[in-house]
Amino acid sequence: MQSIVIEGGKRLSGEVKISGAKNSALPILCASLLAPGEHVISNVPALQDVITMGRLLENLGAKVQPSDGIFHVNTENLTKDEAPYELVKTMRASVLVLGPLVARRGSARVSLPGGCAIGARPINLHLAGLRDMGAEVEIEHGYVVARARRLKGARIYFDTPTVTGTENLMMAATLADGRTVLENAACEPEVTDLAACLTSMGAKINGAGTDTIRIEGVSELKPMKYSVMPDRIETGTYLAAGAITGGEVRISGCEPAHLAAVLTKLRECGFEIEKGPGWITLRGCDRPRAVDIKTLPYPGFPTDMQAQFMALMCVADGLSVITETVFENRFMHIAELKRMGADIKVQGNAAVVQGVKNLLGAPVMATDLRASASLVIAALAAKGSSEISRVYHLDRGYEKMEEKLQGIGARIKRAG
Ligand code: UD1
Repeated sequence: MQSIVIEGGKRLSGEVKISGAKNSALPILCASLLAPGEHVISNVPALQDVITMGRLLENLGAKVQPSDGIFHVNTENLTKDEAPYELVKTMRASVLVLGPLVARRGSARVSLPGGCAIGARPINLHLAGLRDMGAEVEIEHGYVVARARRLKGARIYFDTPTVTGTENLMMAATLADGRTVLENAACEPEVTDLAACLTSMGAKINGAGTDTIRIEGVSELKPMKYSVMPDRIETGTYLAAGAITGGEVRISGCEPAHLAAVLTKLRECGFEIEKGPGWITLRGCDRPRAVDIKTLPYPGFPTDMQAQFMALMCVADGLSVITETVFENRFMHIAELKRMGADIKVQGNAAVVQGVKNLLGAPVMATDLRASASLVIAALAAKGSSEISRVYHLDRGYEKMEEKLQGIGARIKRAG
């Protein structure tokens, strides 16, 4: 199994170019199921999750041709409506085919995703919304089986804002009969990007990016030509990498407006941040000040940046309280950070981090995507060498991470 070896302690400096957003590319690929024909999707990151989604679409009968970040997806003839367990278990976002399949084909059979490292992650709100739209939804042998001759517009209230739930139902509603209103909807930029993509296909959507989204169903959509927005979590990850080494980095091809919460916290730590259209620069300080963070739905501090920020707080001056409110079990990286000398105590859904002067390189194990990124960040600052195993987690969500980090001076290589 492959691992990543990092020789820490090098100040990073230079420019990193950001890739297309994983969490935008995945729903947009699924949106291609809504309209028959040839779709062209660009700025698609080369990631394992994207490959998995391509396989899932092919399994449904679509023809998928990736070439240099551009995906041609032909959905003229869909032959199946099943997302099998083998694909769903490796990538929960597979559940995003549910809404489009029921809307276009009138039926879908999608494996239940099950738990994952960061929590139980149910899909009850996706299913309740489809039922509200008139679908018959059953659980049979570990699969969600949903049927509807034509979905009907409905008023749907989410108990808790769910990103993929909002995306699934927004896609389903584009072809429903009548008006759908999604209340307490997720406001994440990825939802807005998907709405823009659907609108380009002829969908009628208002309010994406707010907690109330109104969709007027249409009878058909046309194929898209769409470019995926930049990845805000990748942007934040490289800012944290530059920050922990006291370096000076410029992030290009990004959308600074999507990172307001993260940039505010980095400034509070004492980093100098400048931004302009498509770029952010960060200038390091001797040692960051410890600050508290609390993860929240957008525009709050993203749960997908919690682990990376915790790595930074491990070497901060003072005590930081990091509260995770979105997922119940998203502290798997703590045990590994402690192996590198971090001083962290967990109290319920809060981690109390007492900054130490130095972390020490150690062999550590990645447990999930963002946890792996936090270990890379910690290793970049640690004294000596660290070996991070189970790199496949990183490959799910970061395009060319070693190359990008090498480009700004990191001593990082893949082994095994
Ligand atoms: C998406 C992102 C993931 C990110 C998360 C939160 C994708 C592919 N993944 O995941 O990277 O960490 O948003 O920003 O976009 N919930 C329910 N019932 C449901 C659905 C969700 O109770 O039916 C709960 C979850 O357990 C969690 C909260 O809602 O506590 C938010 O989860 P959700 O926004 O759905 O996360 P995902 O869409 O799976």
